[in-house]
Amino acid sequence: MNVIEAKGLSKYYNNGKVKALDNFNIEVEKGKVFSLLGPNGAGKTTFIKLILSIIKPTSGSAKIFDGNISDFKSREKIGYLSENHIFPNYLTADQILYYYGLMSNVSKSKLKERIPILLEKVKLHDKRNIKVKKFSKGMLQRLGTAQALINDPEILFLDEPTDGIDPIGRIEIREILNELRNEGKTIFINSHLLSEVERISDEIAILKDGKLIKRGPLEDFINETGYYRVLLDGSKNNIIEEYALNKNLRIMYDKGFYKIQNKNLVDLNELIDLLRKNKITISEIAPIKETLEDYFIKVIGNN
Ligand SMILES: Nc1ncnc2c1ncn2[C@@H]1O[C@H](COP(=O)(O)OP(=O)(O)O)[C@@H](O)[C@H]1O
Ligand SMILES: [Mg+2]
Repeated sequence: MNVIEAKGLSKYYNNGKVKALDNFNIEVEKGKVFSLLGPNGAGKTTFIKLILSIIKPTSGSAKIFDGNISDFKSREKIGYLSENHIFPNYLTADQILYYYGLMSNVSKSKLKERIPILLEKVKLHDKRNIKVKKFSKGMLQRLGTAQALINDPEILFLDEPTDGIDPIGRIEIREILNELRNEGKTIFINSHLLSEVERISDEIAILKDGKLIKRGPLEDFINETGYYRVLLDGSKNNIIEEYALNKNLRIMYDKGFYKIQNKNLVDLNELIDLLRKNKITISEIAPIKETLEDYFIKVIGNN
């Protein structure tokens, strides 16, 4: 079942001079982690704002839970963490969740029950009475995620959830997102941080200059490169080099590893037999896969 659908969705600014989003089509299935990727200015935030009816489309249409986005009822079961959000810094984490909860129409009794659970979930329970002006960026993003969950939404929109956060903070956010995915929530992430997204996404779409470049399951973006990475004892080895030469396989040696072309599994196993017959210890053999970053640079370029 699709919970988000956009058809020919476009948003132009400055009398059509800026095509922030151009004829964008997308479907997001319930329970999936969907990541919209693209460089700064690609149109990612514009898409979320359109879906949440914060801005109106120039043309095209979109639906959430089968209801038109212009119907406010469609937003009742949605949570939103905006890009660069700012909380009133004189409030505590507890108070912020309380006020944002009231604004989301959650009853006071539900809030009393839910706020401690959410603070626990984002590991801020022991910081609940501290004013957020003392919070790190990572803590603010975790509080923002709790805020987005205050109305127990079915779909979560997260705009750059890990931007500006240190590696530990990123792991913490990733763990929270994994937990939410296991609970069956649909998670829509906007991000320009590829390695982050690579670890948690089911589906990916790449935007550039407002246009959809490619979409599909994560596997479609991380193809095998046709090479194996081979670690022997870390030094150069004549046997593997001669084997590659005889078989006409490309081979490179770099920082202790060999990178050898993989034409078929028979060759690979023959090589393993040969190395073992010569009592050479194999520490590691693994196919080299393209990362999402490699793909991104190939299609988007380095600019
Ligand atoms: N309110 C606005 N007025 C004019 N141009 C805008 C406005 N909002 C965004 N844009 C432009 O639309 C494009 C897409 O922006 P945005 O959706 O924020 O991209 P992203 O989130 O991928 O970084 C950019 O060129 C940006 O400058
Ligand atoms: Mg953005």
